[in-house]
Amino acid sequence: MRTTTLGANGPEVGRIGLGTMGMSFGYDPNGRDDDTSVQVIHRAIELGVTLLDTADVYGPFTNEELVGRAVAGRRDEVVLSTKGGQTVDDNGIHPNAGRPEQLRDAVDASLKRLGTDFIDLYFIHRIDPSVPLEESWGALSELVSSGKIRALGLSEVSLEEIRRAEAVHPVAAVQSEASLFTRRSLTDVLPYCEERGISFMPYSPLGRGVLAGAFSKPADLPDGDWRKFMPRFTEEAMAHNNAIVDVVRTVAERHGVTLSQVALAWLLEQGRYVIPIPGTKRTKYLQDNAAAAEVRLTAEDIAELDALPEPLGASE
Ligand SMILES: NC(=O)c1ccc[n+]([C@@H]2O[C@H](COP(=O)([O-])OP(=O)(O)OC[C@H]3O[C@@H](n4cnc5c(N)ncnc54)[C@H](OP(=O)(O)O)[C@@H]3O)[C@@H](O)[C@H]2O)c1
Repeated sequence: MRTTTLGANGPEVGRIGLGTMGMSFGYDPNGRDDDTSVQVIHRAIELGVTLLDTADVYGPFTNEELVGRAVAGRRDEVVLSTKGGQTVDDNGIHPNAGRPEQLRDAVDASLKRLGTDFIDLYFIHRIDPSVPLEESWGALSELVSSGKIRALGLSEVSLEEIRRAEAVHPVAAVQSEASLFTRRSLTDVLPYCEERGISFMPYSPLGRGVLAGAFSKPADLPDGDWRKFMPRFTEEAMAHNNAIVDVVRTVAERHGVTLSQVALAWLLEQGRYVIPIPGTKRTKYLQDNAAAAEVRLTAEDIAELDALPEPLGASE
């Protein structure tokens, strides 16, 4: 696996990471199995997929435990990324836990669930609109000083928010939804991250499975899956967006690789600090995704993929 650093000076990590959310949350509730997920994480480590991304609200609260179980005794082989600052209830996830005392409690709870005494990378999952960012970020900065956290990240933020945070404490990483489908952060946030040596971690890099060819119509989605409620997964949107996936398939066939590998290789071309975090609970998909780090697209492929139209429907 090719590597990069987390932020300009952080630990070395594989160019492809692993998102663990779907092992416990949101997607395919009947298809999950913790023992299999632990095996997938172990295989990831073997392949050099060392950046593992979770969050306290995934589960809720069980995904960090699963990751903790998988990395027990192997803590020094992985770089753990988790997130806090939100609460979760039957109505969804809410960005309302950004007060310093809430974040301090959240970090302690994450450390316990992960079974570790430090978190490599801690994200504010979404900025709490009722708390100045400087206050939340300042509280986390103190936890870096005390050794509970090594580095800090922001998720779904604007350039201005990154700059405000940087005035208080360095930003090591930014997560934004980014893929061949979702490009809004690629023109401003990503170039700024490249300039500043901030890791840019595209989340949902496979368009939540569609760009990998996993689903082409709503009926393909498993029972109880959250994607059934997303505008990008309606009959009309999926029928429209299949034309985009067809182009990805054409490029994949040209190289004898998978669709997911094309989608990830295109993201890797966007910058040297880009670390996509595709999510999967299957060894087969994990291996495909890890191998994307070795796929080289031609200038012609990249131009063809760059020119793809916007998909129909929001993905949240
Ligand atoms: N910061 C944030 O707000 C935020 C938001 C969302 C997600 N995230 C992070 O980003 C990670 C990834 O995002 P995501 O899981 O939403 O979307 P994704 O990685 O774009 O897609 C995941 C879906 O693609 C399928 N898949 C994965 N690899 C495949 C392959 N090679 N071939 C065919 N299908 C494949 C998975 O199937 P199986 O599950 O069946 O294996 C799953 O259904 C999450 O796990 C989480 O850590 C962060």
